[in-house]
Amino acid sequence: MPDPFPLPLARRPRRLRQNAAIRAFAAETELTPGRLVAPLFIRDVGAIPETISSMPGVKRHLEDSLLFEVEALHKLGIGMVALFPSLGGVEKDDAGSAALDPTGLIPWTVARLKKEFPDMAIMTDLALDPFTTHGHDGIWDPKRGDLDNDATVAVLAQMGVIHAQAGADFVAPSDMMDGRVGAIRSALDEAGLIHSGIVAYSAKFASAYYGPFREAVGSGASTGGTYLDKRTYQLNPANRREAVLEALLDEEEGADVVMVKPAGPYLDIVREVREAVHVPVAAYQVSGEYAQIVAAGQAGWIDLRKTRDESLLGIRRAGADLILTYFAREWAEDFARRS
Ligand code: PBG
Repeated sequence: MPDPFPLPLARRPRRLRQNAAIRAFAAETELTPGRLVAPLFIRDVGAIPETISSMPGVKRHLEDSLLFEVEALHKLGIGMVALFPSLGGVEKDDAGSAALDPTGLIPWTVARLKKEFPDMAIMTDLALDPFTTHGHDGIWDPKRGDLDNDATVAVLAQMGVIHAQAGADFVAPSDMMDGRVGAIRSALDEAGLIHSGIVAYSAKFASAYYGPFREAVGSGASTGGTYLDKRTYQLNPANRREAVLEALLDEEEGADVVMVKPAGPYLDIVREVREAVHVPVAAYQVSGEYAQIVAAGQAGWIDLRKTRDESLLGIRRAGADLILTYFAREWAEDFARRS
């Protein structure tokens, strides 16, 4: 027994944790389906949706399965989907020329979805990696052995106009070239697309957590072999100030939303960016974060659902207004069951 007993404590924080009702009103952070964005992969060839071995539960969709998926997401209250192409039937080249085909898979899919679900917001990825033979996000300059920044920006701006013309609510440059947000904004405005917005992948780190995604879209070796090195354009995981600078520049250049990616290992960045900018902040719980939780859950080493929920709540608590997550549908289904 401590002496004196009971302890003369004015503050006993545990009083607010005594039961579920008290814990509910004392909760500081809440997550709702409207905060979630579902990333979806679409294929251009094949007869049935394909599974992705390193992302159990995630598919490469074809038209029918995509429409079913978006309908389900819409009913669950998820407000936005992010589209990524997995291209089997497209001629890739060094310059990623197929990205500028206005009848390509993404513009076609955007128009199809908008016709069926006009109030589901759609964001599309602006980067050349699904279209280039080398798997880099832009135009390769063999002389320097690096991406050509300004030539890439010119292509991304055209790509943005094509996606927005097809009906994308937001185009999302994920390439990390300097000056791309401003160039895309000008191109959209010149084309009269003043209502189309930009979600900028502002603080995108050079991360090993993208491995499973690269398998999903077929952009370079994901596991084993050579892991495609994007360190001349994606951020150094060691850097905080530089991440905030990127977000500030994108806000200045006209980004409607800025993003931090990955999310879980970069919660300090999410918080700092949230405090630095005035626009909504998105965080992307990427493929490797998803794969880790699912794999450990399937092995019986952690409780998959609880770990999933905690990982998403942590990202929200760090300051994310929007969360891109491969768990969007499952999480929202459980949320609907609970409420
Ligand atoms: C590339 C892109 C990547 C992701 C989204 N867009 C991968 C990369 O930079 O190689 C990763 C998403 C994920 O891992 O879930 N434009």
